Amino acid sequence: MLVLGVESSCDETGVALYDSAHGLLAHALYSQIAMHNEYGGVVPELASRDHIRRVLPLTRQVLAEGGRTLADLDGIAYTQGPGLAGALLVGAGMACALAFALDIPAVGVHHLEGHMLSPLISDTPPEFPFVALLVSGGHTQLMLVSGVGRYTLLGETLDDAAGEAFDKTAQLLGLGYPGGPALSRLAATGDAGRFSLPRPMLNSGDFDFSFSGLKTAVLTLVRKQGLEQAADIAAAFQVAAVEVLVSKSLAACARSGATRLVVAGGVGANAHLREQLTHEAAARGVTVFYPRLEFCTDNGAMIAFAGAQRLAHAGSSDLTFAVKPRWELAALDAV
Ligand code: KG4
Ligand code: ZN
Repeated sequence: MLVLGVESSCDETGVALYDSAHGLLAHALYSQIAMHNEYGGVVPELASRDHIRRVLPLTRQVLAEGGRTLADLDGIAYTQGPGLAGALLVGAGMACALAFALDIPAVGVHHLEGHMLSPLISDTPPEFPFVALLVSGGHTQLMLVSGVGRYTLLGETLDDAAGEAFDKTAQLLGLGYPGGPALSRLAATGDAGRFSLPRPMLNSGDFDFSFSGLKTAVLTLVRKQGLEQAADIAAAFQVAAVEVLVSKSLAACARSGATRLVVAGGVGANAHLREQLTHEAAARGVTVFYPRLEFCTDNGAMIAFAGAQRLAHAGSSDLTFAVKPRWELAALDAV
């Protein structure tokens, strides 16, 4: 089954071609980061307009690179939510119109399901069940995954998401948007032991997180030390945030008896997180699976892949569409 995947939930337009027999054939991404950087964050209306400009050229590009034509498609997957309503509507409208014209089914995919299944786009995918640590700009969740659509929420952030904490801390340190990659580059040059920051909820005994207090602690430290110390502060922030993520993820594996841990979402690209997690997990008999680095952040490949799993089990689709800017992952149907 050949599936076109379209991601347009936030500030990147991603399109990909996934074949259930031959794997990922092509993928293309256009990032709007430079456009939004000027404003210090995503401007929803500009995002929607830019998705409109990019989505068809990217579709032509992946078809050409994959050596396929529109007539070869068996289905189209699009991100239905959560995300920015206007941005989601661009992908949903394009996908459903194209599916109608080609007389093939379209399926709306949950953005976080796309992230969570992205490590399965691999020659050596993890088997179910596994624990998933989802760390994106908007979400931080630990899930027990026993199959496609079989998700049990173990814990989540009570306030800021991990990526949001990286972004806000980066902003306090005078770095651009999105701050995660810039902060981690700066942290690599700093001394993580010089300042000590809190590890919020490290010993709370559950799988919930809280990152807003950590951001406030950084603000206090910046006021006291000044921006000359930014590299050491960035390093202190990164070790604190990563320690909590690693500790809770491995505790969730222990509690649920899972020996496989999947990490997905933008913060999964963080080198310090990967290093610590791989090291600590090995000591506890847990194997960690990551998506390819380019598939940690938003992309069309994960939507094409998740869509292919769902289309394989789907009945007919009526091609009416509604986007879901807010949507609980645990509410999905199992396939
Ligand atoms: O998954 P994603 O692309 O978008 C959402 O669905 O939210 O995640 C974006 C988030 C941003 O907050 C960004 O700062 C963070 O992932 N991020 C990182 C790194 N790369 C991206 N955070 C820490 N270290 C990184 N290397
Ligand atoms: Zn995302």
